Amino acid sequence: MCQLDGKVALVTGGSEGIGAAAARRFVLEGATVFVTGRRQAELDTTVKAINEQSDRGQAIAVRSDVSSHGDLDRLYTRVRDHSGRIDVLFANAGVSELARLEEVSEEHFDRVFGINVRGLLFTVQKALPLLSDGASVILSSSIAASKGVEGTSVYSATKAAIRNFARTWAVELAGRRIRVNAVSPGPIETPGFSGVATDPAQATDFKDALLAAMPLGRLGDPDEVAAAALFLATDASSFTTGAELFVDGGLAQV
Ligand SMILES: NC(=O)c1ccc[n+]([C@@H]2O[C@H](COP(=O)([O-])OP(=O)(O)OC[C@H]3O[C@@H](n4cnc5c(N)ncnc54)[C@H](OP(=O)(O)O)[C@@H]3O)[C@@H](O)[C@H]2O)c1
Repeated sequence: MCQLDGKVALVTGGSEGIGAAAARRFVLEGATVFVTGRRQAELDTTVKAINEQSDRGQAIAVRSDVSSHGDLDRLYTRVRDHSGRIDVLFANAGVSELARLEEVSEEHFDRVFGINVRGLLFTVQKALPLLSDGASVILSSSIAASKGVEGTSVYSATKAAIRNFARTWAVELAGRRIRVNAVSPGPIETPGFSGVATDPAQATDFKDALLAAMPLGRLGDPDEVAAAALFLATDASSFTTGAELFVDGGLAQV
């Protein structure tokens, strides 16, 4: 028996990086997993690869942008028509862009908050009618929510907002036994992390500074975050809600 046999999951931003690793884990544990992203080709490639590895669960690609209400409505119509409910929601889609305070533009602020905060809030709000009693909601925060790292003021603020969503929604949804937790990765080797700085020298400085302060001295693998998401998705974490689970090589813990 697998840990998510018969469960229905949704992973937003699952065409690459942490979301793809989590979708794969959930499928291998027996779940039907709806996987979203904005780029259809990348999404299809990832979902095909996951399905080729699994003889239990199943991944289903739905192209959907979390910052579009129309896309979210179409996504949930598809989920409702196919599966009728959601047992595990991993609100993972997010973008990271560096900008020092003096460089922050309205466009940068609106883009990062629009996807990371507004997009995540409406992803969860619009899922409410489909969430089963006892469902698990996992929000993608970051160690950035509790650290001061040069160039990350807007991104870090979005992740701090998400950290608090987990506290507030844990209270608001407890009546339906829905647990809400945040997972907070440190630096994880993903396309998103590699692309965080456009200037190669800035990217190297950023990475070197993080590694120098990291007890485990290496970047994390997306599957290490997926393992934490799986823990939060299953009854193994049945008494855990409103919490923040760090997967950061110790970076924000020491
Ligand atoms: N990697 C790290 O070091 C790290 C550390 C802490 C927290 N995190 C958080 O973990 C989450 C995943 O990060 P990652 O590094 O795996 O990112 P990634 O490699 O950039 O992958 C992001 C995924 O989200 C999708 N996505 C982006 N914007 C979207 C939108 N508006 N609607 C739907 N899907 C969208 C992307 O596909 P499309 O571009 O096709 O939409 C892609 O599949 C993010 O919330 C990030 O902030 C990451």
